[in-house]
Amino acid sequence: LLDVTQLSRPDTLHLLDLAASFQEINTRPVKKVPTLKGKTVVLFFVEDSTRTKTSFDVAGKRLSADTFALGKSGSSLNKGESLKDTALTLQAMSPDVIVIRHSSSGAARYIADLLPCGVVNGGDGWHAHPTQALLDCFSLRQAWDNTFEDRTLLILGDIAHSRVARSNIHLLTSLGVRVRICAPRTLLPAGVDHWPVEVYTNLEKAVRDVDAAMCLRLQLERQQAGLLPDLAEYSRRFCLGLGHMELARPGAKVLHPGPMNRGLEISDDMADASASLVLNQVAAGVATRMAVLYLLATRNDGGRA
Ligand code: CP
Repeated sequence: LLDVTQLSRPDTLHLLDLAASFQEINTRPVKKVPTLKGKTVVLFFVEDSTRTKTSFDVAGKRLSADTFALGKSGSSLNKGESLKDTALTLQAMSPDVIVIRHSSSGAARYIADLLPCGVVNGGDGWHAHPTQALLDCFSLRQAWDNTFEDRTLLILGDIAHSRVARSNIHLLTSLGVRVRICAPRTLLPAGVDHWPVEVYTNLEKAVRDVDAAMCLRLQLERQQAGLLPDLAEYSRRFCLGLGHMELARPGAKVLHPGPMNRGLEISDDMADASASLVLNQVAAGVATRMAVLYLLATRNDGGRA
């Protein structure tokens, strides 16, 4: 699973249904089933992560897979070993699935072309974050009573550097959601006029009558020299607060993939408000990644999936 562009609408709905069936396991007193006993999942995270890495680990363990993690720190990548040799070394230990996160767009595709095991893109550069988009869809589907049609989502913030925005725009528009994006012009990517979205640079206009708003982290580590916005001005113009959501449809929800810069792209009280789905998204991440691991780890097992 390298990108949501691989998924047809029925594929996506099947994954979301499967995730819903796995979600129940996460509420049991004993949160473990033997479904993936004997399978091995490697968490190969060359870029930092809290949610994606931990939730894949929890998802694998809840299904009784053996999981182990390798990162840049503590590995021979730090001694200059190449990505290729590291991947081939991991493959020699016969994993069923490798989840890779990397700061370079295309790293997951590179590994998938090299290895016979299942590969999940856990986020590559600005390119794609398919399981984040799936868990966001899962969270919105629950909040929206299973309907995506006639719904409008606003994605707000650092669109230019966001793999989450790219994956969500593709997946949600394929399900019939109208997507708006809002950012300062310097944080809109080249070619945005060809994206299937409505583009705004004014938050008050963009948020009007939406069914949900998704804030994105201002990715300070990915800004090009000289283009970093003035943070006080950015916060004044683009920080989503409770007052903005009064312009949205009644019952509208707020999402953020995390980690949040509180006070910069989302206000403190908005992040903690009852309309916030931020922690629902984390819980949805476990169920969604259980579904992804199940489908990939059993794909050669004679039709188990
Ligand atoms: N949303 C997300 O990818 O979070 P992490 O970077 O903590 O994994």
